[in-house]
Amino acid sequence: GAPVKVDLSSLRLGEMRVAEWRGKPIFIVRRTPEMIERLKGDTIKSRLSDPNSEVEQQPEFAKNDTRSLEEELLVIEGVCTHLGCSPKYVPAVEPQAYDANWQGGFFCPCHGSRFDLSGRVYSGVPAPTNLVVPPHKVEGNILTVGE
Ligand code: FES
Repeated sequence: GAPVKVDLSSLRLGEMRVAEWRGKPIFIVRRTPEMIERLKGDTIKSRLSDPNSEVEQQPEFAKNDTRSLEEELLVIEGVCTHLGCSPKYVPAVEPQAYDANWQGGFFCPCHGSRFDLSGRVYSGVPAPTNLVVPPHKVEGNILTVGE
């Protein structure tokens, strides 16, 4: 598949945009500073299956807490690593609606897998691995997904 270019200039803080690459939805989120804070620290890491992204589900440049080139910008395949449903973006913490340990991020409606705001999977859900970060680059306001 050819690379896909997305103009990010109108993407607001906290907002998600969906692009398509190789027939897959690509979720693009401009995270707020508060969202970025939620991805750091021992508490969240203790609840994740692969907090340090040891399984190769991302390019080398995204092997960090935010799984990104720039902390603010998340670029991730919107395809659950269990059976391929598309997870729902849940930016706000809504513990009552799901479970008290989840800090928000992505929720898969098919079998209840939960991911954080960098696509890292929580322990104890059906999805075995983190969401995949596709190869991408950013030049000014232009995101290119694919190579
Ligand atoms: Fe997402 Fe099963 S496909 S939890």
